[in-house]
Amino acid sequence: MHRWNTIIEPFRIHSVEPVRFPSVRERNEHLEEAGNNLFNLRAEHVLIDLLTDSGTGAMSRDQWAAVQHGDESYAGSPSWFRFLAAVQNLFPYRHVIPTHQGRAAEKILFTVIGGPGKVVPNNTHFDTTRANIEHTGAEAVDLVIPEGRQPDVIHPFKGNMDVEALDTLIRERGPEHVPVVFMTITNNSGGGQPVSLANLRAVREVCDRYGLPLFLDACRFAENAWFIHEREDGQKGRSIREIVREMASLADGMTMSAKKDGLANIGGWLAMNDDAWATECRNLLILTEGFPTYGGLAGRDLEAIAQGLKEVVDEHYLHYRIRSTGYLADALDAAGVPVMKPAGGHAVYLDARALLPHIPPLQYPGQSLAIALYREGGIRGCEIGTVMFGRHPDGSESPAAMDLVRLAIPRRTYTQSHIDYVVEVVTWVAQHAADLPGYRIVDEPPALRHFSARFEAV
Ligand code: F0G
Repeated sequence: MHRWNTIIEPFRIHSVEPVRFPSVRERNEHLEEAGNNLFNLRAEHVLIDLLTDSGTGAMSRDQWAAVQHGDESYAGSPSWFRFLAAVQNLFPYRHVIPTHQGRAAEKILFTVIGGPGKVVPNNTHFDTTRANIEHTGAEAVDLVIPEGRQPDVIHPFKGNMDVEALDTLIRERGPEHVPVVFMTITNNSGGGQPVSLANLRAVREVCDRYGLPLFLDACRFAENAWFIHEREDGQKGRSIREIVREMASLADGMTMSAKKDGLANIGGWLAMNDDAWATECRNLLILTEGFPTYGGLAGRDLEAIAQGLKEVVDEHYLHYRIRSTGYLADALDAAGVPVMKPAGGHAVYLDARALLPHIPPLQYPGQSLAIALYREGGIRGCEIGTVMFGRHPDGSESPAAMDLVRLAIPRRTYTQSHIDYVVEVVTWVAQHAADLPGYRIVDEPPALRHFSARFEAV
């Protein structure tokens, strides 16, 4: 049979939502009002919103139908049992603790196992993970392989952990100070890059050597499994579910944001095998989220997630998903725009430091590029660089490892012509990069400053 090359959206559109077209004058006014921070914009002032892939995807017909099965009983709802079965079908951990989103799971876990003197290694901590660890007085250390910090170096699994560096860290600090080792799949802050099964096994071995638990930050587990399916020796013949279950079996627990590969608009969970930790976590859950059979979620949300977890491991979905992200990256690369290579799963990362060499990192080239994309084309991306990671708990500031702008692709939401428009705008801005100014921060909060800081052109 002929194999066609065009990879199509594996769905028809069933319900549509209009987009708005703000004028150039309006966009300039909105930027001024927002203090040049795109998090401060009203979403209705954005044409193509690539700020995040988190909770911004389209739910399927079957998910909306599942919402109607939501049972809002306070305790022991059937929706909870459907959610539990769907989670454990992929991640068969003994304890599953539902939360309203991923960071709530992080907050609970690190409140129980963090604290001063502790150190938590990860390939790369996401910003809320790092902040939740540091909030307890513990230290968060990023140990991604060196290739993972070089945007233009091709490597099939750029999210992998530097296993030797992990071993050294544990030996130097003492395993008694390392409550857990984390692996973020895919490695969001490092470019949405995958982690291989071989690397997970190697990290598992190090953990076993020192008797340490391994947890997954599994937000984009299905995208990671697709990369393993495509790129890792001997994995082509396996189903996505099998690969996910092997990833799960190599770890002792997980934190999860269902706003990513749960294909839902809200939700998350914390899961683990350890009974004592689970008891402590559930006690905290009751204080901050809710009863253990709903966490911070309505029954209808649990239903949407349960159905989403069935859809997200579908090979047609993942083939389309990963290819459509690659399509944007390839088009920009062909147009000469420096992008992180190879493309990640959920986002394309523009290398602002390479594109704007005239702007020093402490004048935030990523922020400058993100502002220009909105000003010129109404596109909202997100700086992942010195604004996000440059300020340290001791108050000092230094350049982040990379200055990137992330264009995150919401799941099942934009079509190929939306993406072609993005390519056109980004290419134009890149051709005029030399005209872009640096920025300084005129107002910033004590933590997670990228969400609310205000900026002025230098
Ligand atoms: N871990 C990773 C790797 C994430 O990407 C996120 C969220 C979280 C944890 C926290 O989950 O938002 O449900 O509380 N990432 C979003 C993003 C916000 O835009 O990348 P949450």
